[in-house]
Amino acid sequence: MSDRIYLVLLGAPGAGKGTQAQLLEEKLGIPQISTGEIFRYNLKNETELGKLAKSYYDKGELVPDEVTIRMVEARLAEEDAARGAILDGFPRNLLQAEALDGMTAEFGGIDLVPMFQLEDDVVTMRITGRRVCRNCDRVYHLTFNPARGEGCDSCGGELYQRNDDRPETVQNRLYIYYKQTSPLIGYYFAKGLLVDIDGAKPIEEMQEQLVAVLAANNIETAGSALSV
Ligand code: AP5
Ligand code: MG
Repeated sequence: MSDRIYLVLLGAPGAGKGTQAQLLEEKLGIPQISTGEIFRYNLKNETELGKLAKSYYDKGELVPDEVTIRMVEARLAEEDAARGAILDGFPRNLLQAEALDGMTAEFGGIDLVPMFQLEDDVVTMRITGRRVCRNCDRVYHLTFNPARGEGCDSCGGELYQRNDDRPETVQNRLYIYYKQTSPLIGYYFAKGLLVDIDGAKPIEEMQEQLVAVLAANNIETAGSALSV
């Protein structure tokens, strides 16, 4: 059995995947890998990848699979992911899911897929109030999770509204989610990997639910009953 842990966080845009992944990183000692964050980094720095991704990203559409899969493969091979990773925003369709199975097969494959359940109207509220640190990507919400001061609590960076968080783009992101990503619910259910998380609960309660389902599946976190 492999000692690598691979989690896939599944759920609609704005369901809280990034927020929970950032809280979970330290407890599991493995990095969050957010494909959305990698694209935003490349957009900001106007790299070749950023230029390629821009038109898709701005419309809320999926960046082509070939590019995205290659990017994740390279990221998973980095040193900090030697004990596994928390995948946030990848996979987003069946082709990506099969590619991820291939990448992780020699390490025992995916361990668990927490699925964040949330009503669409709450999703829209979450997304419109979201602010993100331009420097370290920490996620805030104007009402539900405000920063203490003007800038980011962690690094003091400027907080901004994501380009794809405009109302017209949010609708398209939801459409793409239902059409292309939601079939993954069945895919992972059939593999016995899916666990439901109530996405409507406050941030801390969601984190407690996650830690509990991880412990129930023998995935040890700092702070779970299994850790010493
Ligand atoms: P990505 O960045 O992955 O966006 P997303 O999947 O649409 O998810 P979000 O980041 O919007 O939501 P989240 O679930 O992380 O919620 P968050 O924690 O921020 O992707 C962006 C784009 O990149 C895509 O549209 C596509 O173009 C491209 N892309 C990315 N991956 C790709 C792939 N695999 N293939 C192809 N293209 C890809 O929370 C939302 C808000 O709610 C925050 O303000 C937060 O503070 C607040 N909040 C969180 N939890 C709670 C809570 N429990 N209670 C109250 N408020 C909360
Ligand atoms: Mg996110």
